[in-house]
Amino acid sequence: FPCSKMVSKSGVRLPMSVRFLFQKVLEPFAKGDDDNFGLNSELLNSLPRGTTLVEYSSPNIAKKFHAGHLRSTIIGNFIANLKQSLGNNVIRMNYLGDWGMQFGLLGAGFKQFGCVEKLKDNPLQHLFEVYVKVNKEVEHSEDMKQAARDFFRQLEQHESQAVTLWQQFRELTVKEYQQVYKRLGVHFDIYSGESFHQDQAQEVVQELQRRGLLKVSEGTRVVDLSPEGDMTNVCTLLRSDGTTLYITRDIAAAISRRETHGFDEMIYVTDKSQENHFSQLFQILVTMGHSWAERCQHVSFGLVQGMKTRTGDVVFLEDVLDEARARMLHNMNQTSTSKELENPEDTAERVGISALIVQDFKGPLQGDYKFDWDRMLQARGDTGVFLQYTHARLCSVCFVVSYSHFVASAHTELPVAGSPQDVAQARLRLFRAARSVLANGMKILGITPVPKM
Ligand code: ARG
Repeated sequence: FPCSKMVSKSGVRLPMSVRFLFQKVLEPFAKGDDDNFGLNSELLNSLPRGTTLVEYSSPNIAKKFHAGHLRSTIIGNFIANLKQSLGNNVIRMNYLGDWGMQFGLLGAGFKQFGCVEKLKDNPLQHLFEVYVKVNKEVEHSEDMKQAARDFFRQLEQHESQAVTLWQQFRELTVKEYQQVYKRLGVHFDIYSGESFHQDQAQEVVQELQRRGLLKVSEGTRVVDLSPEGDMTNVCTLLRSDGTTLYITRDIAAAISRRETHGFDEMIYVTDKSQENHFSQLFQILVTMGHSWAERCQHVSFGLVQGMKTRTGDVVFLEDVLDEARARMLHNMNQTSTSKELENPEDTAERVGISALIVQDFKGPLQGDYKFDWDRMLQARGDTGVFLQYTHARLCSVCFVVSYSHFVASAHTELPVAGSPQDVAQARLRLFRAARSVLANGMKILGITPVPKM
């Protein structure tokens, strides 16, 4: 890097310390280490590292993928990326809602309304249809209610026919989800779920019983979490019919994750309506003597209203992604650029998804917001489209400029073309640095930067 030529715009030679800083900051670009810029510093290397388990997305089989699941996916992916770029070993986990009475309904419903072909072709859609139908049916049919109870009992007792059907629901659902997550740039190391901890949940109850922590309240089994021990704040762990609940399975799941993965910290990402649930979960774990629960954290976020596509309320994640792509393509066609692109659909998909992602990070995490396609897809302001646009422009400077095809209007302050060669080179390196910082930051947010748009 030509230090002697390090002059400010006004031509004043910069002090040694500033020159040193510049040199340090821009050094990696002389080595062509753009992709890791900012991620390999001495400071980062000196940070303590460990294993972080991040649990996010976690939709429920046969139910709607709502805005909360999308936000959890985006925020959880960001947290996992960030932890990873800080040098931690990160385990990405999806904890599916794959157990509970709804599978009684689904199993019984499938026997009546289900179709194996449709299940294989379009599992999410078909299971949702069956689920809606069976819920209507049980409103007036005692037989259906009984069939649902029977099916769930068979599941709980691991009867093979019921389990096989349930397994099929689960496997096909996961397969389809994996494809949709891929479009979002998200992946999971583990697809866990409530079903995994069904038996362990019963063991948790016994353990609490042994420790004298389980109380009886109106036929149910509860843990008393009130500081005075006067049952003013209790948490139910067992229904009167002896079946476990969401929280019972969560206790079992946490213990099993700690045993299996030995994490140093665990982060759960869900909307703020589950704040009480997680605070109770951590409290119970600590009461049971699991001091590692103090390093478990619930990252909660605000609610999103009105996530709709042209066809109505969102049921499937895929529809949101399709709509983001279609709307972005439409905008791109109006402003001309798409004709020069090799694959405009693909660019529209990436940029549309960036818009979705940035919308989530715009306000305070805990704040609620209204889902708004037009606002998020604006080319100006704090939007994903603007981020991508800035990145693409910096790319065009770096690739285009060196072949002397520079669009001067964009960078009048620090022109590259027409400057003396060493100054032009220094500026080019600066733009490369800016592009790389931007790209690496975008990747941590979960955005795939596009070189052109
Ligand atoms: N499936 C749940 C829901 O849709 C979210 C699960 C959150 N994670 C957990 N460990 N409880 O509300």
